[in-house]
Amino acid sequence: MFIFVKKIILKSSDFIFQDQTSHIESDSFSWIAPSNIALVKYWGKKEPQLPANPSISFTLNDCKTETTLSVVKKKDEDSNFSIDVFVDGKLNEEFKPKIYKFFERIVLYQPFLKDYHFKIETQNTFPHSSGIASSASGMAALAMCLMSLEQELNPKMTSDYFYKKASFLARLGSGSACRSIESEIVVWGKNKTIKGSSDLFGIPFPFKIHPKFINYQDTILLVDKGVKQVSSSVGHSLMENHPFAVQRFKQAHQNLEKITECLTTGNLDDFISVVESEALTLHAMMMTSQPYFILMKPNTLQIIEKVWEFRKQTNLPICFTLDAGANVHLLYPEFVKHEVKQFIESELVMFCENNSYICDSIGMGAYQLSI
Ligand code: PMV
Repeated sequence: MFIFVKKIILKSSDFIFQDQTSHIESDSFSWIAPSNIALVKYWGKKEPQLPANPSISFTLNDCKTETTLSVVKKKDEDSNFSIDVFVDGKLNEEFKPKIYKFFERIVLYQPFLKDYHFKIETQNTFPHSSGIASSASGMAALAMCLMSLEQELNPKMTSDYFYKKASFLARLGSGSACRSIESEIVVWGKNKTIKGSSDLFGIPFPFKIHPKFINYQDTILLVDKGVKQVSSSVGHSLMENHPFAVQRFKQAHQNLEKITECLTTGNLDDFISVVESEALTLHAMMMTSQPYFILMKPNTLQIIEKVWEFRKQTNLPICFTLDAGANVHLLYPEFVKHEVKQFIESELVMFCENNSYICDSIGMGAYQLSI
């Protein structure tokens, strides 16, 4: 006997808020959301913030943003947003335009945003000027808070819908933020071999992860703590008329399929080769766009050379990946933590600004704080 299981594919319109059953005058919600590091990179997008290719990332544990959202119902109806933003306890005007833009993008899905005054208090665990982007963790934490508010208005919402919509909203704030919501490894972007994958939101990696990847380590070597030379929005737009774009998007699908295999079988050699190739391809795309950029610094290359030398000499499974900047993420299994720590201290730390680096590892995603 065949059992017919209907495949439910969610569309953007499924995320439009409808069933308000409760009313609230004031409340407050606090969430912590982590950053993430892509193994297969998202680089290139279509409106509205949809990826040109699928990506997959490790969720981090220690680099995160804590956000408290306090809401008070407005006395009189008006059609404007009312928002105050506090960063590290201080009123901050700089982030306001970004938050307004985010609210404008998501108000279709949460029309009640116009009914409340919002106080957003936020802080990061990683240092301000570390060159680590806080947009992924920041937008994910805010999206979680907004979903908590929505849940108060519609308590019948399922947990599955809560997390999918949180990822959907976070994506509209900053693409990669949709990978900072739940689980250790997240896939974002439709790929035929990953069931449930979607361009609209990230999904937990749907296969059993090989034990070698449990508590995988990410040490971030801070080569350049300055502000990014190229913003990600400019970077993504450079893929629009890029001569290699079509081939790159195809390659990302193939690399996602290869890395899926590595994550389930524990093949670290192939894992390393896909991860490093992805990092260098991301930078190659920027070097071959118009205008072109070199985002690595001489010390980025020094570190890469050292990692290759160390791997050749010791046979230890350590590799690097890069974001759209000069900092280097070293990825390695927990069982080589001790040797890698010594290697960093003796051979890499001198290439970091003020000898700084951050030790992180795979985490589980966002979590709520009780107030
Ligand atoms: O989320 P955005 O728009 O900041 O783009 C992130 C792009 C990369 O970090 C370079 C790659 C990725 O997939 O995270």
